[in-house]
This record gives sequence, C-alpha cells and structure tokens, in this order.
Amino acid sequence: MDTGLANKTVVVTGAGGGIGRELCAGFARVGARLIGVDKIDLEETGQYLRMLAAKSGDFDWTTVTIDLASPASIQAGCQRIREAFPTIDVLVNNAALYGGLAFTPMEAIDIEEWDRVFHVNVRGSYLMIRELLPALKRAKGKVINFASGSALRGSPFLLHYVTSKGAIIGMTRALATELGQYGIRVNAIVPGLIDTASSRGLGEASSKVLKATVEAQAIKEPLMATDVVGTVLYLASAWSDAVTGQLFLVDRGLIMH
Ligand SMILES: NC(=O)c1ccc[n+]([C@@H]2O[C@H](COP(=O)([O-])OP(=O)(O)OC[C@H]3O[C@@H](n4cnc5c(N)ncnc54)[C@H](O)[C@@H]3O)[C@@H](O)[C@H]2O)c1
Repeated sequence: MDTGLANKTVVVTGAGGGIGRELCAGFARVGARLIGVDKIDLEETGQYLRMLAAKSGDFDWTTVTIDLASPASIQAGCQRIREAFPTIDVLVNNAALYGGLAFTPMEAIDIEEWDRVFHVNVRGSYLMIRELLPALKRAKGKVINFASGSALRGSPFLLHYVTSKGAIIGMTRALATELGQYGIRVNAIVPGLIDTASSRGLGEASSKVLKATVEAQAIKEPLMATDVVGTVLYLASAWSDAVTGQLFLVDRGLIMH
C-alpha cells in the first residue's frame, strides 16, 4: 500500500533510542528523506538502516546532533535543518529523558533531576516545534509527539517523568488547536510499557513491572518498539489528514481510553 511518504522530509528526535531506531527504519522503508536527531552518536542507527537498505534498497539519511536540554543547541541544530530542508513534512518528537531514571518515591526525587526531565521532555519538544515551525508551515506538516500511558494510568514512583508526559498531552491538544490555521496536524502516540533497554533499566523492579503489565493487557504479549511504527506512519501520512489533537494508545489493550 502506498503511504505517500516517499521523498517526504521527516525529522525523528531520539533517533538513537530503542523506539527511535525502529521509527527511522519504518520511515526509511517507505522511502522518506530522514533526519535523525539525538544528543548521542547515531552511527549505530545508521548501520542498522544500512543493513536494512541492503535488503530493501536505498535510504536518505542525515544526522544532526542536538542536546534537547539546551535551547541554544536546539536553535543551532534546527537552523542547520531549516537551511538544508526548508520544507519539513513530519516532525516526530520521540526523544525523552526516560532510560536512566530510577523508580523513586515522590518525596525523594532530586529537584535538579525534576528540572532536567522537564527541560528535555517538555521544553525540548516545544522548542523543536517552535524552531521548525516555518518549515512545517510550508508543508502543512504533521507533528507526532510521544506521550506515555503512565500519564493516563497515573503510574507511581516516576512523578517527574509521568508529569512531563501529561504535559505532552496538553501540549498536543493546545497546539492542534493553535496550529490548525496553518494546516499543521498535531497528534500524540501514547505507548504502553515497551520492552526496551530503557524500560528494563528503571531499577530492580522493572522486570516485575514489565511482567505485570503484560498480564494486565488485553493481548498478553510483550509490547515491542516495532509495534508503534505503523501508527506513527499512519499519523505521518495523508491517511490521517482529518485527524488532529488526538491520542493514539498503542499498548495491546492496557488502557481503554
Ligand atoms: N519504552 C517504553 O516503555 C515507553 C513507554 C511509553 C512512552 N515511551 C516514550 O517513547 C519515547 C522513546 O522511548 P525509548 O524507550 O526509545 O527511550 P530511549 O531511552 O531508548 O531513547 C530515548 C532517546 O532520546 C535521546 N535523548 C535523551 N535525552 C536527550 C537530549 N537531552 N537531547 C537529545 N536526545 C536525547 C536518547 O539519547 C535516546 O536516544 C520517549 O518519549 C518515551 O518517553 C517509552
């Protein structure tokens, strides 16, 4: 089936992470012009794409290093992107400070860590949209934000992270309303608990939580990073032109929203 995404310009943040890499692979498969953004080196993601391309054909891949904690880094990186790609069809705000956070009771969360989580997850996503807005306006582009089912369930012991993902839901709805006048669609993916290195790294309790989550799902199979790709491609494509301001729960039936 033709997604219409061939040669569309797509920016994916967090392209080096468990989900980001699969998103890049998904967009590469449909022939998009891909710009991977991360603060870490994206060589591994590039190698993964090259390996897939050996089976399925060419891919168009540019990387830009941005530290989402730093407004100056976002401005400089997005200026480079805008100069090279004046029109951007899709921005996927997938990056987040998530792996490396430990389950912590709310009264013990370090205040500096709280701020870091908000700077990267909320302000970083906001500034990426703001800095790429002229290029998104030209394409009547699509913004796809990554929230988390933890914000709908109210999962305990990661209050800064969960609250930041609640903010992403508010941002998605408010921006859908505000940017609709430019034809820009803004939606959010709300994943359940995905079996990635980051979700396994949330302290000793994480494998127990992963197991209990699978048990609570309607479909009792682990949720993998590849499982979100189809919904993201749908939201990036013309098939979702009538859809904006919506949350897409991809969680094998964990939460009925
Ligand atoms: N894995 C899950 O179970 C799960 C569940 C719900 C939502 N999510 C969301 O999905 C998205 C991807 O999660 P993941 O599991 O792939 O996480 P991950 O930790 O594997 O990947 C996150 C990526 O973001 C990048 N990043 C972090 N801080 C950054 C910064 N300051 N500047 C630039 N890049 C930065 C990291 O380098 C990494 O490549 C996140 O938004 C996460 O909150 C994940």
